[in-house]
Parts: sequence; C-alpha cells; structure tokens
Amino acid sequence: MSVKSDSLCLDKASKTISFSAPSNIAFIKYWGKKERQYPINPSLSMTLNTCLTRMSVSYRIDEINPGIKDFIFEEKNNLKFKVKIQNYLSSISDIYPLVNKLSLSLSSSNTFPHSAGIASSASAMAALACCLTQIEIEMNNLDGGHFERRASELARLASGSACRSIFPQFVCWGRDQYTKLGSNDYAETLKDISPVFLNLCDSILIVSKNVKSVSSSEGHRLMNGHSFKDARVEQAHENYRVLKNAMKIGDWECFGEILENEALTLHGLMMNSNPSYILLEPASLALIKAIRIARIESKIKMFFTIDAGPNIHLIYPKESQKEVLEFIEQKCSLLCEQVIHDEIGKGPKKY
Ligand code: PMV
Repeated sequence: MSVKSDSLCLDKASKTISFSAPSNIAFIKYWGKKERQYPINPSLSMTLNTCLTRMSVSYRIDEINPGIKDFIFEEKNNLKFKVKIQNYLSSISDIYPLVNKLSLSLSSSNTFPHSAGIASSASAMAALACCLTQIEIEMNNLDGGHFERRASELARLASGSACRSIFPQFVCWGRDQYTKLGSNDYAETLKDISPVFLNLCDSILIVSKNVKSVSSSEGHRLMNGHSFKDARVEQAHENYRVLKNAMKIGDWECFGEILENEALTLHGLMMNSNPSYILLEPASLALIKAIRIARIESKIKMFFTIDAGPNIHLIYPKESQKEVLEFIEQKCSLLCEQVIHDEIGKGPKKY
C-alpha cells in the first residue's frame, strides 16, 4: 500500500478496513447487460494471482455529512475516481443504506497498469465491495456467514465482471439456461475441475497501455440492438456448457477451442456493432498468428484469450512454462510493450 492506512483516518473515531482483490480473465465473456447490471449470458473466468488492487477504506458515522471525503489513487488525490465511487454508492443506497450514514476516505493502488485492457475495474470494485461488506458486518454486528455472496453482489453493481473476482480459481456468473443453476445476482466458484486446469498460468502480452477508445460500458450498451445479439446469447450458453464439461473431464483441446472462439467472437461483435469499432492492434493479430503457428509446429500447450482491449492473454499449464517463456522471448517480445506473468489465484485477502 503506497499510502499508509493511518494517514487516512478521518479522526480518532474512524476505523480502517483493507482488502486486496485480484483481477480475473474471462474464458466465457460477459458481453451485454440488462436491467440492474444483470448479464445477458452466463460467463466463466479464472481469478488471477498477482494483478491486484489494494484498497483501504476509513469510515466513521456522519449522518449529517455522509459520502466520500477523499479518493487517493497511487498516492494522489483522484477526483474522477472519487466521483465515480460516490455515484456508485448513491446508486446502491437502497440495498446498502449504510452509505447514508458513513463518511468515507478511500485509498487504492494497483500492481498492474491502469486501463490497459486488464480488468482494473474488476479488481478495484471487488476490493471495494469486500471493504463495504466488512464494514456492514462490523457496523451491524453480523456473523459474516454470507460474506462472499454479499461482496459479489455489491461488486456486480459496481462493475459486472468484478463479481467474479471475489472467488478463487474458476468462477461462474449468471443463470445457465440448460441446468437452471447459477445466479445473475452474484458469482460462484466452479466446482468439479480436472487437475489439468488447476495450475494454469496467464502471461499477459501487453500490446498497448493506452486507454481504450471505446469503454466496456459503451460496448455492453452497443449489444442492445446488435444484429447478432440473440445468436450471441445462444452461442454463449452453448460455449458455457461445453467449456464446463471440458474442464470437468480434462479435455485440453476442447477447452482451448472454446477459449479462442470466445475471444474472437467478442472482438467480432465489436467490429460489427453499429457504430463499429476495433480494439485489436496489428500486433495483436501478429501475436495470434504466432501463437497458432507455434502450437502446430512446436506442439506448445497454449491457447489465447483476449479481454476488451488489444492485449493477448496466453493461457497454459505450469508444466509448459519453460517452452512458453522461450516462445514469448523469441516471437512475442518485439511486439509487446510489456509482459506480465500471472497465474490462477486464491481470491481477495484482508490485510
Ligand atoms: O465488467 P465490465 O463491465 O468491465 O465488462 C467486462 C467485459 C469483458 O471483460 C470483455 C468480459 C468479461 O466477462 O470480463
């Protein structure tokens, strides 16, 4: 934490809660939403380990002047984030009435570049939701039995994919039309995973750290009225079913086929939305081609996925790490600004 929690204390009556929460990478993409931040299709992600947001929230009762007093991001006051979080808190006052009573000071920092297509909003909002849930437990003397479910719901209302960052390993969010299981309100840990997938790594090939030209919120909005919307929802349900089965039985090839199909579908949907937009860069395509060639020629066990940005996530099992790192060094490094090596993670931590 770059700013010491002590320096955030509003006065002696205030208390500070701190959590770190990871980013996550979606294998089945949440793309398009309805009503109150509900997804139009179920999604499935892997929680990361080292791409984290650390957040401290100092709070005290102040019913006359509630709200956010400061938001310090990476050691500097950040008015934009302060307004964003204040708007979020006002939007949840019906389900989190404590916001009408509390004066809050927030401080956060990331271990990875902000707005680079790595879901910084997911880790930040998950960390904030954990802090808010813990504050609620302490203020209302609750037993904390439903901590994760509550934190996931609060995170979802801030940024949909953040609800998955509350849980370790592999996480599902959204109602499954085949099994009728799963909730749109909060995410859950995916059970029944073959050991083949329990040591996955994610090397993030950062093609560009520039702020995205079209935000994810705008991308979700453009799915309303998209000519392929109904077909996409059907496809996502089917991919979700097939991927869960592949992860249960340890079918690596089927896993990879779905992974890459989801990534390219997401970007295909962007390219043919109205208006159309493209977040991939020439280097993103060059990397995709290099990955596919190396997979055939060198038999390296790796697949790619892509978030809403130009960066390529290389997904592979730990035992392939040596060959993958050599491949990155030889074929990818000139196309990337940076490479971040991450892996499957354990979820948020109180500190
Ligand atoms: O949670 P949001 O609103 O930032 O949307 C995230 C959308 C994707 O990252 C593209 C896909 C996903 O499921 O994380």
